[in-house]
Amino acid sequence: MTQETTGDSNGLPEGVSEASNPHARRESESADPQHSAALTQHSAALTQRSGATTTTDDVIESDADSSPTDRQEILSEDNSTCHISVMPDEVVSMLAEINPDVIVDGTFGGGGHSRRLLDSLENAKLVILGLDRDPEVSIRYEQNPFQDDRLTVFLGSYEKTPQAMEAMGVKKIDAMVLDLGLSSDQLADRNRGFSFTHSDSALDLRFDQETGHTAAQWLAWKNEKEIADAIYQYGEERFSRRIAREVVARRRKENAVRTVSDMVDVCRRCVPRSRNHDIHPATRTFQALRIVVNDELSALERTLQSAADWFRPGGRMAIISFHSLEDRIVKQAFREDERWQPLTKKPLRPSDSEVQMNPRSRSAKMRVAQRV
Ligand SMILES: C[S@@+](CC[C@H](N)C(=O)[O-])C[C@H]1O[C@@H](n2cnc3c(N)ncnc32)[C@H](O)[C@@H]1O
Repeated sequence: MTQETTGDSNGLPEGVSEASNPHARRESESADPQHSAALTQHSAALTQRSGATTTTDDVIESDADSSPTDRQEILSEDNSTCHISVMPDEVVSMLAEINPDVIVDGTFGGGGHSRRLLDSLENAKLVILGLDRDPEVSIRYEQNPFQDDRLTVFLGSYEKTPQAMEAMGVKKIDAMVLDLGLSSDQLADRNRGFSFTHSDSALDLRFDQETGHTAAQWLAWKNEKEIADAIYQYGEERFSRRIAREVVARRRKENAVRTVSDMVDVCRRCVPRSRNHDIHPATRTFQALRIVVNDELSALERTLQSAADWFRPGGRMAIISFHSLEDRIVKQAFREDERWQPLTKKPLRPSDSEVQMNPRSRSAKMRVAQRV
């Protein structure tokens, strides 16, 4: 059963309230995650999920002309996750060393990291608070709940950790895991616009489709310089100016970019094919647009500024990132904030066997720090 939360009328903290439909909470949320007050709680039980059959990078970096991957082909009938968790052994071993009582899984996704932690840690007092800002994660979790009352899942950004703690009567946490980016479930969903293979999809790219604006809207409203700067800054795309010029030219011709295939077409025209064909011409641009519409880097920065206050001394934070922009933010925060002692001088990387089994893991970098 899913609990919807919309106010403090039931004795829950401000920003945390109850209802039964995860979609109903939207009236109280704004596009800015900092100002979005609502947090939905799921205390349902969980079942074993089926295995995964696709990976993020497999699809996002595959050529749009190659054989499409369809959600129906990769998701099981019961809407269980198709996501394979990245570096689960490393997450468990780094956290098991401190025998945590309270763990926050701030990017719950398919729940793989939570599942592994619940299965591996023997602490009788263990409690896990899962958070994810994607309402589809809540729906999937409702349909495939864990049969484990040590876990409570909330619908909301990981920035809302203090509200989740308050709702659970938790004063301090011992550990937190952030596994950034998007999941294979989101990539496989043809209504989201994350995959090049779903060419007819609207260019949405939001983790939470009920708040904010789509990437297509953003491209329709911004000027050429703003578009170019964002694609350069967040995608590190050298051909950002050409791309922005083409986007704006199409707007003038009343042929604005609306779908995934529109955007892929713009990128194909503007970005020369890389010599070894290792990266699709639209990869960097889609990354940039996703970061922009989800305000991803700011959410991470704000969280890293506040998170030390949530931890007890000796607690550990493990963050898995998938591109250099995120990794730089994590590295700097752990180095420069004296409340954190970095435990990983260099980021941990997935093993060769993990990369072979799960190609999506190949760009993962995990940094861990201990609260002083
Ligand atoms: C890589 S997946 C996590 C997979 C998960 N660790 C597992 O093992 O199944 C990343 C998830 O983070 C979520 N996410 C992204 N930004 C978020 C934020 N600011 N707060 C909470 N969840 C977020 C996405 O919706 C997505 O479900």
